[in-house]
Amino acid sequence: MKLSVKLPLLIIFLVLFFTIGYQSIFYIQIQQNIVDSRISEAKSIIQLSSDEFRNSVYFLNYETINLQIENLKRNPLIENVMIMHPDGRIISDGTISNENFDVILNDDFILSSINSDKLNLRLDDDIIHLSTPIKIIDKIGILYIDYSLSDVNQILENTFFVILVFSSILGMVGIVVGISISTSITKPITKIKILSNKIAQGNFETNFDLEKSSTTEINDLQKSLQEMTVNMKKYQSDIIKAERFSAIGELSARIAHDIRNPLSVISNSIFVLERVKNDPEKFKKVVERMNRAEQRITHQIDEVMDFLRNTNLQIEEIHLKNMFDLLLSELPDTDELKINPPKNDVVIFADKTKLNALFSNLIMNAFQAIQKDGTITIMILESNDKIHISVEDSGPGVPEEDIENIFEPLFTTKQEGTGLGLASCKKIIEQHKGTISVKNNPTIFTITLPKNQET
Ligand SMILES: Nc1ncnc2c1ncn2[C@@H]1O[C@H](COP(=O)(O)OP(=O)(O)OP(=O)(O)O)[C@@H](O)[C@H]1O
Ligand SMILES: [Mg+2]
Repeated sequence: MKLSVKLPLLIIFLVLFFTIGYQSIFYIQIQQNIVDSRISEAKSIIQLSSDEFRNSVYFLNYETINLQIENLKRNPLIENVMIMHPDGRIISDGTISNENFDVILNDDFILSSINSDKLNLRLDDDIIHLSTPIKIIDKIGILYIDYSLSDVNQILENTFFVILVFSSILGMVGIVVGISISTSITKPITKIKILSNKIAQGNFETNFDLEKSSTTEINDLQKSLQEMTVNMKKYQSDIIKAERFSAIGELSARIAHDIRNPLSVISNSIFVLERVKNDPEKFKKVVERMNRAEQRITHQIDEVMDFLRNTNLQIEEIHLKNMFDLLLSELPDTDELKINPPKNDVVIFADKTKLNALFSNLIMNAFQAIQKDGTITIMILESNDKIHISVEDSGPGVPEEDIENIFEPLFTTKQEGTGLGLASCKKIIEQHKGTISVKNNPTIFTITLPKNQET
């Protein structure tokens, strides 16, 4: 599961867990407090009243007893009041008829009150039953009261509603704060992830508009990532430099070796020229051989220079059809060679000299692949802000095992090749922010270039 989902869910869970937990504990405590205060209220009422009943009970003055019961009943929380003899017979229950007079109620609580010498209490659902002895030295009676708890439920309901509203607001605030905290963590982490992916793909030009986070560790992580990228970029350019030096070394050895052959052809021919100077036919052949040797040397040097030269792009408008027509016209005009130039013209903005070198290399490779006998086709396609150019030839294709290497500098399968042609092409294409790919059957090199170069 993604961190951006996991963290908010965790926070929401914690907020709900704590608000509901806190709400329940708070509610139970309030309930306890209300019942406790009712009990102590009832206890003090019954204790005070038992003193007041002493005289009236001692003299069995029913009128005063009933008056006192009536007074007690004025308290809306007092539901029943009874005065009993010490043996449990009812003296008065406050009713005018006094119909329970002298009855002993068959009730556990009353029976236990008869045998007790102190205050008794029993808690039912919504009533507190209390009894206490009425004493003048000895127990002369029992005072019994039912104290109501029925309004407590209403109070608790109201309290529950208040707590619910309060907890809901608290919970919502908690969730909003939690989500904003989690976003402040996950947003920079997501950005770091995107950047890391770019770095992993070798893009060290990563744009560091990272978000300043309120979390120190995230800021540290971003800083390390930034430092790492700067270092990686430096190492990369060091590696490129080292690679280039080693390539230059290899190249120099190769050039020295490759130039030696045509040079010895030229130096041999100089001697031969002297001997054949009177035979125009032979003289012409020797000069032609010298010419070919000189062309090989020039080609080697041109390729090397093209590859090593690191110049900035000189952007100008290019009519691709014109460019290809010119390049293709340099190929020999023979019956064996069939050339299909591009049918359409597309205008792009790029470096003309470099594109000339790029396509001349590809066309030359195609020409060499078909060995002067076959077809070369160039096609140009447009899509939005890009163009796709394909150079196709009817040659045998690139051996599968070579496909990975053909863009590497110095890779060649040709006797007189430098192996720099496609490496230069790749360099030019990358400089233009384009791509190159190759496929066989038929052999097609496809180049994609942006129509405009961003400045
Ligand atoms: N159209 C093609 N068909 C088949 N193989 C090709 C084609 N183009 C390139 N290759 C293969 O890729 C290799 C590298 O090509 P690249 O242009 O870099 O060097 P080269 O052609 O060998 O040398 P140079 O360009 O200096 O003449 C070639 O030697 C060849 O094996
Ligand atoms: Mg080539």
